Amino acid sequence: MSNLIAPSILAADFANLQRDIEMVNNSEADWFHIDIMDGVFVPNISFGMPVLKAIAQHAKKTIDVHLMIVNPDQYIQTFADLGADILTVHYEACTHLHRTIQAIKAAGMKAGVALNPHTPIAVLEDIIEDLDMVCLMSVNPGFGGQSFIENTYKKVSQLKHLIEFTEANCFIEIDGGVTNKNANALIEAGANVLVAGSYVFKSDNPTETIADLKNLIA
Ligand code: DX5
Ligand code: ZN
Repeated sequence: MSNLIAPSILAADFANLQRDIEMVNNSEADWFHIDIMDGVFVPNISFGMPVLKAIAQHAKKTIDVHLMIVNPDQYIQTFADLGADILTVHYEACTHLHRTIQAIKAAGMKAGVALNPHTPIAVLEDIIEDLDMVCLMSVNPGFGGQSFIENTYKKVSQLKHLIEFTEANCFIEIDGGVTNKNANALIEAGANVLVAGSYVFKSDNPTETIADLKNLIA
């Protein structure tokens, strides 16, 4: 399984969204990472359905939607209709996680679960075999441009062991503060998908930064 790069559109220039989407289309990036925040689950509001619809009209790569919202169940079909390929919900926002995961799959999408930095890997023991992806938050969700939390390395190793032990078929995605300073170590620890927002879009040459991130990884 090769390692994947998912630029986070949250850090794009929203006044030049089509330009930035085309940049990702023409780059070595693998996925579009789309952050949906509701101002309740996290203390920030990003963008909603009309913007995702516009993104999906131009995006030519896998659309990876990260829901930072309460009650995600009520929007599962909506996100499927909008073109999401992968839908990730937060463990901390789902009382009936198993039901939510089955509903995401029934709507034709891959199902992911995100864990906040304080949430232990062990809570996934009884759901891991149903998941297509686990997203480990390496910052507290809600904002781009935060510093990477070092404890994430330990969690990647623990998650990798759980996946191997259960023979689950599940990506490990890292989200928050990813740069060339931690990318290699994350991949070595077992990560498969690196989300990068500020590091890509605030750089002088985002296309080159994506390529560097992709090729940096042995
Ligand atoms: C944070 C979001 C991230 C964010 C990453 O809540 O889930 O996807 O856009 O941005 P950077 O790479 O700038 O930390
Ligand atoms: Zn995200």
